[in-house]
Amino acid sequence: MRKYFSFGGASKFLAVIAALGTFSFASKAESALSPNTVPKRDTAILLVAFGTSVPQAEKAYKNIDRLVKKSFPGIPVKWAYTSSIIRRKLAGQGKKIDSVEEALRKLYKEGFKKVAVQSLHVTNGQEYQKIVDTAKEFTSPEFGFKKIKVGDPMLLSYEDLKQFVDALYKTLPPERKPEDAVVLMGHGNEKGIGDLSYVAAAYEFNKTDKNIFVGTVEGAPSFDEMKAQLLTSKPKKAFLIPLMVVAGDHAINDMAGSEADSWKSILEKSNIKCVPFMHGLGENDQVMQIYIDHLKKVLESFK
Ligand code: CO
Repeated sequence: MRKYFSFGGASKFLAVIAALGTFSFASKAESALSPNTVPKRDTAILLVAFGTSVPQAEKAYKNIDRLVKKSFPGIPVKWAYTSSIIRRKLAGQGKKIDSVEEALRKLYKEGFKKVAVQSLHVTNGQEYQKIVDTAKEFTSPEFGFKKIKVGDPMLLSYEDLKQFVDALYKTLPPERKPEDAVVLMGHGNEKGIGDLSYVAAAYEFNKTDKNIFVGTVEGAPSFDEMKAQLLTSKPKKAFLIPLMVVAGDHAINDMAGSEADSWKSILEKSNIKCVPFMHGLGENDQVMQIYIDHLKKVLESFK
């Protein structure tokens, strides 16, 4: 407890109350302080992304930051990256980004009682599960956050999927004609249930528009599987769009790269003119509304 009270003016004031002996944090704090001085900062939002070291991909995160702040004014918004490789790389450039654990420790020390953790992952994959596991550790009495909850990834429920398909469909590049194919590149998972979201997305898009295809870099549906389906529709042109929050390394190299094994190179060998769309879903406000809705659900559960 001592450690907790060593931060901030309001905390020092509360420490005095605590020292009086009748310590009950919530009731004393709320009754002893007038509404103006009650620390508003009892709830924080922690946005957790995989991370990117590609500077131009960061604009997707900046846009999410802006949208979240606009949707939940007055609630501090913090960030963490799950990828230790990316964090190390950025630290080498003098840019320190917290891990989920570091961010939660800081929030605890700063006196926050409730944390809405929003995963900026697409599927319920391993990366998402790691966030859930870490958050769980912070519910132990040692930390004593009153509430800590992780918002769903982008595509968890069928409701999410319908919202996603609708939002993405409405925001396809305007120059795309109905006969042009759209190829969405998801990340994919080596194992676990995360890939079911991509398979479901492929199915759902197919109901809306037969010329939209979904493949992944590291999971299912595989690129080959997607390509086989794509070729049956004999498109002359395909828009390549990342089904990822940022248009980072995978979009730049695996999707649109000039190497022989990029999706663009392989599809162009089949005489499909490829038009890479170098924007992450984080730049798409309509798609990002899914995260905002998930975050809203978490914050509402705190009331
Ligand atoms: Co990857």
